[in-house]
Parts: sequence; structure tokens; C-alpha cells
Amino acid sequence: MQFSDILTRSPLMEAVLRSAHLIAQTDASVLITGESGTGKELVAHAMHATSPRKAKPFITVNCAALPETLAESLLFGHRKGAFTGADSQQTGLIGAADGGTLFLDEIGELPLNLQAKLLRFLESGEVLPLGESRPRLLNVRVFAATHRNLYAMAQAGEFRADLFYRLNIVPIELPPLRERKEDIDLLLKHFLRQFASQHQLPAVTLGKDARAYLLRYGWNGNVRELRNLCERLSILLAGREIALTNLPLEVRNPAPAAASPFNLPETGVNLEELERDLLNQALERTSNNKTHAAKLLGISRDALNYRLKKYELV
Ligand SMILES: Nc1ncnc2c1ncn2[C@@H]1O[C@H](COP(=O)(O)OP(=O)(O)OP(=O)(O)O)[C@@H](O)[C@H]1O
Ligand SMILES: [Mg+2]
Repeated sequence: MQFSDILTRSPLMEAVLRSAHLIAQTDASVLITGESGTGKELVAHAMHATSPRKAKPFITVNCAALPETLAESLLFGHRKGAFTGADSQQTGLIGAADGGTLFLDEIGELPLNLQAKLLRFLESGEVLPLGESRPRLLNVRVFAATHRNLYAMAQAGEFRADLFYRLNIVPIELPPLRERKEDIDLLLKHFLRQFASQHQLPAVTLGKDARAYLLRYGWNGNVRELRNLCERLSILLAGREIALTNLPLEVRNPAPAAASPFNLPETGVNLEELERDLLNQALERTSNNKTHAAKLLGISRDALNYRLKKYELV
């Protein structure tokens, strides 16, 4: 997995990837955040593959899937006989990453007791396998990823603040697909072509209406949702044109958006994002009728057109 496998034509995403590329050359800990399906795992792989550690192991730990009772020994290793069932010595996943990169995926799900032990490892570079008396010094670079807001979790006492600050030395935040609408078309074309060839089927084409709806859809599941839909359509409609009626209901009738945050939240808002979101909602609700959409927003048609251009929504 390389940076060149990460498709984008969004200036926002390109800037994020440029800094990811730079950071990859260092030994700094990296926290990759972004909604589910935005490509965090992809970026972690690409960063390792371009780093000076690329010939060394890349070990992924899914913190959400660590079995509670075995988690510590899985991560830190254990000595033979350290506990019932420990019939051989185990290096542990952190030890397996020695010389390379440890990728802690879904770090927000790591139990608090292990967060303390992980922090100790990050500060000292040493692990103490269960049952051992002497710690082992390792050379491991750490990437972590999460779709959760670790800062808010730390505020709420659900995540150790000291670990958050230690991991967050270099943050990489992947924008959701709805903030890089330029990518939708590119990704649709790529995945439709890829799945046709992977399943050895004639390619589908995208009808004009269907395309318009797909471009405007909110994609809360981000690239993963788009990719899965492309696979389904490539198989079900092989060789045909995708019409509006072939699209899932949620794309055709977007769910009414959640109550708008007209009370300024404590954490503030991004005014431009909010405006873009309201523009999209108005277009969705009026099936793209600009006169009606402008009315809903309390602005003139010209003012609406101006804003649609500004946000590249046309
Ligand atoms: N820019 C992109 N170009 C090509 N494929 C992408 C891109 N972004 C994501 N993908 C693909 O989309 C899918 C989801 O990406 P990934 O698993 O990296 O998301 P994630 O952010 O780790 O999600 P989660 O938080 O749910 O684990 C993968 O199949 C990945 O290969
Ligand atoms: Mg992931």
C-alpha cells in the first residue's frame, strides 16, 4: 500500500497527505483521526511503506478486538509459565514490531489499565513481559488511529489525557468525503472499473441522474460506503447503465438531517462547513430546485448560485 494508491483530487486531502508523507520520514508518534471509512488504515500503511522502517515489520493491533483477559500478554508478551496456559514464551505484538512500526487501530477502545501500560512503554521504550523481571528495550515507532474524539474522551475521563497528548504529537486528520466532494466522482469511476475487472464482468456505466444523486449524497460511511456500493452495483448491473431507481433509498431520499445546531455548541462550529451543509440540505429537500432551495435559505437565487460556486457544489 503506497501513497499513490490513495486517490484524491481534493486540495484539502492533498495537503493532509503531503504532511503525512513528510511525517512518515521521522520517528514521531502519529495519531490518525477521521470518521469511519475515511482511509485511516490506508494512510497508516502508506506512511510505513514510505518510511525508513519500510523493510521492517508493520504490526497492526485492533484495540477493539483485544480479548480482555489476554490483552496484556498479547501486547507485551509473557514468559513461559507466567500464567496457566502460558506454555511457551511469547514476544507480544509490541515486541514483534521491534525495528518497525506498531499500528494501534481503534485506540479509543483500549482499556484504561492498558492505556497506562502503553504510556509507560511510549515514554521508556521498554516492555515488561508478564512473568519477566527485567524489561526489554525496543525500537518501535507507534501509529494510532481512531474515529472517536479522543480529546472529548479525555475530558470525560474515558481516555487518559497524558496518553492522548503523548500520541497526539503529530495529528493527521482525514476529512470526511462530504468535505471533499471532488473525490466522489474520481472514486466512483475507480471502484466501478476495479470491481468489473476483479469480478470479470462487463463494466457498468453511470446514468446522468444517478450520478447527480451520488455526487450530492452525504456519504456518512465515507469511502468504505462508496466502495461497497460500487461493488454491489458492478455485480448486480454488470454491463448496464446505473439508473436512479438502482440506487439505495438512502441515496435517493436522504434522511432528514438531524436538528441543526442553531445553538452555538460549546466547542464552536466551522461556519463554512455549516453553510455548505445547509446548502446541500436545501438542494436535497427541493430535489435540486434552486428557486425553492433559495427560498428555504432566505436568500436570492443569485446569492444561492454564488455560494454554490464558492463551495464547488455545482
Ligand atoms: N482515497 C482513497 N482511495 C482509494 N481507496 C480508499 C481511499 N480511502 C479509503 N479507501 C478504501 O476505503 C476503505 C476504507 O478505508 P480504511 O479502512 O482505511 O478506513 P478507516 O478510516 O480505517 O475506517 P474505520 O474507522 O472504519 O476503521 C478501504 O477499502 C480503503 O482501501
Ligand atoms: Mg480502520
